[in-house]
Amino acid sequence: MKKFYFGSNLKMYKTVGETVDYLMKLSALTESIDRSKLELFIIPSYTTLAKAAEVTDQQLIRLGAQNMCWEDQGQFTGEISPLMLAEQGISFVMLGHSERRHVFGEDDFMENRKIRTALKHGFRTLLCVGETGQQKEYDVAKETLRTQIKIGFSQVTDEHIDQLAVAYEPVWSIGVDGTPAEPDYAEDMHIVIKEMLSERFGSRGSEIPVLYGGSVNRGNARRLAMKPSIDGVFVGRAAWQAEDFNQMIREVLQE
Ligand code: PGA
Repeated sequence: MKKFYFGSNLKMYKTVGETVDYLMKLSALTESIDRSKLELFIIPSYTTLAKAAEVTDQQLIRLGAQNMCWEDQGQFTGEISPLMLAEQGISFVMLGHSERRHVFGEDDFMENRKIRTALKHGFRTLLCVGETGQQKEYDVAKETLRTQIKIGFSQVTDEHIDQLAVAYEPVWSIGVDGTPAEPDYAEDMHIVIKEMLSERFGSRGSEIPVLYGGSVNRGNARRLAMKPSIDGVFVGRAAWQAEDFNQMIREVLQE
């Protein structure tokens, strides 16, 4: 099997102590899995990052931040600067998560500014995209993804390709009220995203991993992972107990 990505965004859950405990357990449980088959990352809350970076071997589990401002400093109350994240030992950031877009009103143009800043600072950058239920109903899911990718990666140059990753997370599939996408549907959307990446970056566009997220669980992870255009899974709730996440990873990789 190709190298497969597993990541989890811890959202606004877990205290410093709980995060440290989770990371230490997950490191110990997954340590024996060959990292040429597995790329594992966890995105905890900002206030846990310093301690998390202290206790985690980032060769085993890469740590990321849930968001970041497009400026290095300034009058941006409540925001986090890339310099502040780097200072905590963080070199990976997720941008444009559905909750940032739909609860906090971020748009594609803001994501693009953040992406360009993140890349300039050498961060690995995960852009989240996905259509809403209404866009799916009106049959504009593909157009939505194309727009999100096109604007999100506007002015991004080829030299940064190896810093990029995309998570396809249909908004209707995320969280307690979400329904997981059928693997065939997810595969179709991944194909659209990959076509867009090739259009944008030429043949090197295919080097950019595209992960599926939205109600991934131990019951559907392997079926999703078997799809040729799905390079990884981005998991919320089903990954927040280290034992469960370890089991899911091992089931998918057949370890
Ligand atoms: P979920 O979250 O797996 O709990 O649906 C996914 C996400 O928001 O990334």
